[in-house]
Amino acid sequence: MQKRQIKKGIYWLGAIDWERRLFDSLIPLPDGTTYNAYLVEGSEKTALMDTADPPMSGVLIAQLADVARVDYIVSHHAEQDHSGSIAMVLKRFPDAKVVVTEKAKGMLMDLLKIPEEAIVTVEDGETLSLGDKTLQFVQTPWVHWPETMVTYLKEDKILFSCDFFGSHIATTDLFVTDQGRVYEAAKRYFAEIMMPFRSAIEKDLKKLEVYDIQMIAPSHGQIYDQPGWILEAYRGWVTGAPRNLVVIPYVSMHGSTREMVTHLAAVLIEKGVRVELFPLPVTDIGKLAMALVDAATIVVGTPTVLAGPHPLAAYATFLANALRPRVKLLSIIGSYGWGGKTVETLAGMIPNLKAEVLGPVLCKGIPSETDFEALDRLAGTIAEKHKGNNFK
Ligand SMILES: [Fe+2]
Ligand SMILES: [Fe+2]
Repeated sequence: MQKRQIKKGIYWLGAIDWERRLFDSLIPLPDGTTYNAYLVEGSEKTALMDTADPPMSGVLIAQLADVARVDYIVSHHAEQDHSGSIAMVLKRFPDAKVVVTEKAKGMLMDLLKIPEEAIVTVEDGETLSLGDKTLQFVQTPWVHWPETMVTYLKEDKILFSCDFFGSHIATTDLFVTDQGRVYEAAKRYFAEIMMPFRSAIEKDLKKLEVYDIQMIAPSHGQIYDQPGWILEAYRGWVTGAPRNLVVIPYVSMHGSTREMVTHLAAVLIEKGVRVELFPLPVTDIGKLAMALVDAATIVVGTPTVLAGPHPLAAYATFLANALRPRVKLLSIIGSYGWGGKTVETLAGMIPNLKAEVLGPVLCKGIPSETDFEALDRLAGTIAEKHKGNNFK
């Protein structure tokens, strides 16, 4: 695919990855992804913004075949899906300078063996003139690594944001065509890799408020030609209270834990609380992560197996701890046969979650009337606390 013009002197380059279904051998990509790079041609100098994932280097190099000069390679983020083709671009344009933050310099040298003499560092807010176009670099740490920055193209009011505001969608549409689809993909992306750094991202969003941003060109997914809604969506995900939502990741072996989960869910719904159930053997963990962006409460449903939680419940709990959602209440429910340390094991896996832990409801074998009453009380406590905190 050839490079495609976005505006005069500004082009999309990069690759569409229709086949990829997993990122980091962990994160599901149901719709594939794109690795976007951008070429900005000023009257005097030309800059390439980011590159492409190494398996797709050839696509980018072919797109650069008729480009006479690249003076700068702006590397917003040292992760390979954006920086992994820098070495190949440098081979094609040996005099180009790689423009990075001080932190990214060390990372590119360590991680990708980019030679020090090819790198120039820029300060927060520094500008670089391409002639009739001016790049301004804004450090935005922790989206989602410590070295990240974005570039504001002053004359055209375009923000090149790399992972920030990205969405994993393989598409030939340059610009957002289906806002609902992109909202979901962008939220999934935020949930999976950015949620743990929510407070840093809140500061980064604040920093961007002084810029008149008329277009956001991320390095995954489509370009936002009406960026207001995605900025607003991000603000909602990083600030404010969680929602009136209980997320229940669960697994059941003989049906007893499932019975407890469905009973708890039914009572919560009666009490006006929204509930989302995630049957772990068939759950897309990206969907679970998205629900955790909003959840006020997590209740893990697990049977006891091999004297502890079911490994799938342990996996979901480990993941929730790593993603650090803004959850306020936690509990565990489930059935056991003869004993074990399910509660202690799961409780030891959530040091990052600053949430109130509500008493677990464990039952022996098939749940009895007394167990259902305990679940009713748990639902009542959750509903009261949601109401008391005015979660909407
Ligand atoms: Fe990244
Ligand atoms: Fe990325």
